[in-house]
Amino acid sequence: MKLISLIFGLFLFFKISWLHQNKPLEESIADGAGIYQDFCVQCHLDSGEGVSGVFPPLAASDYLLNNIDLSIKGIKYGLNGPIKVNGETYDGVMQNQGLEEEEIADVMNYILNSWNNSSEQVITLQRVSQIQE
Ligand code: HEC
Repeated sequence: MKLISLIFGLFLFFKISWLHQNKPLEESIADGAGIYQDFCVQCHLDSGEGVSGVFPPLAASDYLLNNIDLSIKGIKYGLNGPIKVNGETYDGVMQNQGLEEEEIADVMNYILNSWNNSSEQVITLQRVSQIQE
Protein backbone atom coordinates (compact mmCIF):
# COMPACT_ATOMS: atom_id res chain seq x y z
CA MET A 1 0.00 0.00 0.00
CA LYS A 2 2.80 2.38 0.93
CA LEU A 3 4.58 1.51 -2.29
CA ILE A 4 1.48 2.31 -4.31
CA SER A 5 1.07 5.73 -2.75
CA LEU A 6 4.77 6.37 -3.25
CA ILE A 7 4.49 5.50 -6.93
CA PHE A 8 1.35 7.56 -7.26
CA GLY A 9 3.03 10.46 -5.47
CA LEU A 10 6.02 10.31 -7.80
CA PHE A 11 3.75 10.14 -10.80
CA LEU A 12 1.86 13.20 -9.60
CA PHE A 13 5.10 15.05 -8.93
CA PHE A 14 6.46 14.44 -12.43
CA LYS A 15 3.11 15.14 -14.02
CA ILE A 16 2.86 18.49 -12.23
CA SER A 17 6.45 19.46 -12.99
CA TRP A 18 5.89 18.52 -16.63
CA LEU A 19 2.77 20.66 -16.77
CA HIS A 20 4.64 23.46 -15.10
CA GLN A 21 7.47 23.41 -17.65
CA ASN A 22 5.37 23.11 -20.76
CA LYS A 23 2.90 25.91 -21.06
CA PRO A 24 0.33 25.80 -23.85
CA LEU A 25 1.65 26.64 -27.32
CA GLU A 26 -0.30 29.93 -27.55
CA GLU A 27 1.24 31.16 -24.33
CA SER A 28 4.71 30.10 -25.43
CA ILE A 29 4.30 31.95 -28.75
CA ALA A 30 3.06 35.08 -26.95
CA ASP A 31 6.05 35.02 -24.57
CA GLY A 32 8.33 34.35 -27.54
CA ALA A 33 7.06 37.48 -29.28
CA GLY A 34 8.34 39.62 -26.40
CA ILE A 35 11.70 37.86 -26.42
CA TYR A 36 11.96 38.36 -30.18
CA GLN A 37 11.41 42.10 -29.77
CA ASP A 38 14.10 42.28 -27.09
CA PHE A 39 16.79 40.02 -28.55
CA CYS A 40 16.31 39.30 -32.24
CA VAL A 41 14.47 42.10 -34.00
CA GLN A 42 17.51 44.36 -34.38
CA CYS A 43 19.03 41.91 -36.86
CA HIS A 44 16.24 39.72 -38.19
CA LEU A 45 13.77 42.68 -38.34
CA ASP A 46 10.05 43.06 -37.63
CA SER A 47 8.71 40.63 -40.16
CA GLY A 48 11.62 38.20 -39.94
CA GLU A 49 12.80 39.39 -43.34
CA GLY A 50 16.42 39.94 -42.27
CA VAL A 51 18.85 41.92 -44.43
CA SER A 52 19.89 40.17 -47.60
CA GLY A 53 23.53 39.10 -47.47
CA VAL A 54 24.00 40.22 -43.84
CA PHE A 55 21.29 38.88 -41.52
CA PRO A 56 19.45 35.85 -42.86
CA PRO A 57 15.65 35.83 -42.94
CA LEU A 58 13.56 33.79 -40.53
CA ALA A 59 10.33 34.21 -42.49
CA ALA A 60 10.08 31.31 -44.95
CA SER A 61 13.67 30.34 -44.08
CA ASP A 62 14.43 26.86 -45.37
CA TYR A 63 17.33 26.69 -42.92
CA LEU A 64 15.10 27.31 -39.91
CA LEU A 65 12.20 25.15 -41.03
CA ASN A 66 14.39 22.19 -42.06
CA ASN A 67 17.03 22.41 -39.33
CA ILE A 68 15.12 23.01 -36.13
CA ASP A 69 17.75 21.45 -33.89
CA LEU A 70 20.58 23.37 -35.54
CA SER A 71 18.57 26.57 -35.18
CA ILE A 72 18.04 25.90 -31.47
CA LYS A 73 21.75 25.17 -31.15
CA GLY A 74 22.59 28.47 -32.87
CA ILE A 75 20.38 30.45 -30.51
CA LYS A 76 21.71 28.55 -27.49
CA TYR A 77 25.42 28.63 -28.25
CA GLY A 78 25.87 31.10 -31.11
CA LEU A 79 26.29 30.46 -34.81
CA ASN A 80 29.00 31.41 -37.27
CA GLY A 81 30.59 30.20 -40.45
CA PRO A 82 28.95 29.83 -43.84
CA ILE A 83 25.32 28.71 -43.97
CA LYS A 84 22.88 28.74 -46.88
CA VAL A 85 19.45 30.26 -46.37
CA ASN A 86 17.01 30.18 -49.28
CA GLY A 87 19.89 29.76 -51.72
CA GLU A 88 21.90 32.70 -50.39
CA THR A 89 25.16 32.17 -48.49
CA TYR A 90 25.63 33.96 -45.17
CA ASP A 91 28.95 33.98 -43.41
CA GLY A 92 28.32 36.09 -40.36
CA VAL A 93 28.35 35.76 -36.61
CA MET A 94 25.38 35.43 -34.30
CA GLN A 95 26.39 35.61 -30.66
CA ASN A 96 24.78 33.44 -28.04
CA GLN A 97 21.99 35.73 -26.82
CA GLY A 98 22.20 34.57 -23.21
CA LEU A 99 18.63 33.28 -23.09
CA GLU A 100 17.26 30.75 -20.60
CA GLU A 101 16.29 27.40 -22.11
CA GLU A 102 12.61 28.16 -21.63
CA GLU A 103 13.03 31.49 -23.43
CA ILE A 104 14.71 29.69 -26.33
CA ALA A 105 11.73 27.30 -26.56
CA ASP A 106 9.34 30.29 -26.53
CA VAL A 107 11.20 32.29 -29.19
CA MET A 108 11.49 29.17 -31.36
CA ASN A 109 7.74 28.59 -31.09
CA TYR A 110 7.23 32.23 -32.03
CA ILE A 111 9.47 32.24 -35.13
CA LEU A 112 8.15 28.84 -36.27
CA ASN A 113 4.59 30.21 -36.20
CA SER A 114 4.95 33.80 -37.44
CA TRP A 115 5.03 35.54 -40.82
CA ASN A 116 3.29 32.60 -42.53
CA ASN A 117 5.77 30.14 -41.09
CA SER A 118 4.09 27.08 -39.68
CA SER A 119 5.44 23.97 -38.04
CA GLU A 120 3.92 20.76 -36.76
CA GLN A 121 6.54 20.73 -34.05
CA VAL A 122 6.07 22.29 -30.65
CA ILE A 123 9.42 23.11 -29.08
CA THR A 124 9.60 22.01 -25.47
CA LEU A 125 12.02 22.90 -22.72
CA GLN A 126 13.18 19.25 -22.77
CA ARG A 127 14.14 19.47 -26.42
CA VAL A 128 16.14 22.64 -25.86
CA SER A 129 17.87 21.08 -22.82
CA GLN A 130 18.91 18.03 -24.83
CA ILE A 131 20.74 20.04 -27.48
CA GLN A 132 24.43 20.21 -26.70
CA GLU A 133 27.17 22.33 -28.20
C1 HEC B 1 23.46 40.81 -33.95
C2 HEC B 1 22.58 40.25 -34.96
C3 HEC B 1 21.72 39.05 -34.60
C4 HEC B 1 20.87 38.89 -33.52
C5 HEC B 1 20.61 39.86 -32.39
C6 HEC B 1 20.25 37.59 -33.69
N1 HEC B 1 20.70 36.99 -34.83
FE1 HEC B 1 20.09 35.20 -35.59
N2 HEC B 1 21.54 35.31 -37.02
C7 HEC B 1 22.39 36.39 -37.22
C8 HEC B 1 23.36 36.04 -38.24
C9 HEC B 1 24.48 36.93 -38.78
C10 HEC B 1 23.10 34.71 -38.62
C11 HEC B 1 23.88 33.85 -39.62
C12 HEC B 1 25.14 33.29 -38.95
C13 HEC B 1 26.08 32.61 -39.94
O1 HEC B 1 26.31 33.16 -41.01
O2 HEC B 1 26.58 31.49 -39.62
C14 HEC B 1 21.90 34.30 -37.86
C15 HEC B 1 21.25 33.09 -38.00
C16 HEC B 1 20.06 32.73 -37.37
C17 HEC B 1 19.28 31.54 -37.66
C18 HEC B 1 19.59 30.45 -38.69
C19 HEC B 1 19.48 30.97 -40.10
C20 HEC B 1 18.09 31.34 -40.54
O3 HEC B 1 17.91 32.49 -40.96
O4 HEC B 1 17.15 30.51 -40.49
C21 HEC B 1 18.22 31.56 -36.81
C22 HEC B 1 17.11 30.53 -36.70
C23 HEC B 1 18.34 32.76 -36.00
N3 HEC B 1 19.47 33.45 -36.37
C24 HEC B 1 17.43 33.12 -35.01
C25 HEC B 1 17.65 34.18 -34.13
C26 HEC B 1 16.84 34.43 -32.96
C27 HEC B 1 15.62 33.64 -32.56
C28 HEC B 1 17.38 35.51 -32.34
C29 HEC B 1 16.95 36.14 -31.04
C30 HEC B 1 16.94 35.27 -29.87
C31 HEC B 1 18.52 35.95 -33.13
N4 HEC B 1 18.65 35.11 -34.19
C32 HEC B 1 19.31 37.05 -32.82
C33 HEC B 1 22.32 37.60 -36.57
C34 HEC B 1 21.62 37.84 -35.40
